[in-house]
Amino acid sequence: MVWIEADVTGPWTVPSVDVWHDHAVFHFLTDAADRARYVGHVREAVKPGGTVIIATFAPDGPDRCSDLPVCRYDAAGIAAELGEMFTLVETIADVHRTPSGAAQSFIYSRFVREPPA
Ligand SMILES: C[S@@+](CC[C@H](N)C(=O)[O-])C[C@H]1O[C@@H](n2cnc3c(N)ncnc32)[C@H](O)[C@@H]1O
Repeated sequence: MVWIEADVTGPWTVPSVDVWHDHAVFHFLTDAADRARYVGHVREAVKPGGTVIIATFAPDGPDRCSDLPVCRYDAAGIAAELGEMFTLVETIADVHRTPSGAAQSFIYSRFVREPPA
C-alpha cells in the first residue's frame, strides 16, 4: 500500500496500478487544464488492461457541493474526458443521501484501459 497526499492535478507520481477509483473528486475540477492533468495521471498510473472507476454527480445532480462549483457528467461526458485509451464498460446510476437527508444523483462509470496491441 502506498499513501499519497497531493493535489491530484499537481506533479505527483505513483507506481502503476490495476485500479483507479475516484469517488466524488473529478467533478470538482471545473478547469479544463486541471482535468487534462488529472487524465494525464490516470494514463500514467493505470496499467494496460487496468480498470478506472469514476463516480461523479450526474446531469441531474447538484451544481455545487461544499459551497464549491462542480461539473456534472453523463457516461459519454466522462468517456470524452478520459479519451480513446479507455473503453466504457458499465455505468450505474445511484442516489446518495447526505447526512442531512438531501438526495444527490451520482453516476459510476467503469472503464478498461486498452491492453497493449
Ligand atoms: C466529496 S469529497 C469525497 C471524498 C471521498 N472520495 C468520499 O467519497 O468520501 C471530495 C474530495 O475531493 C478532494 N479534492 C478536491 N479537489 C482535489 C484536488 N485537486 N486534489 C486532491 N483532492 C481533491 C477534497 O479534498 C475532498 O476530500
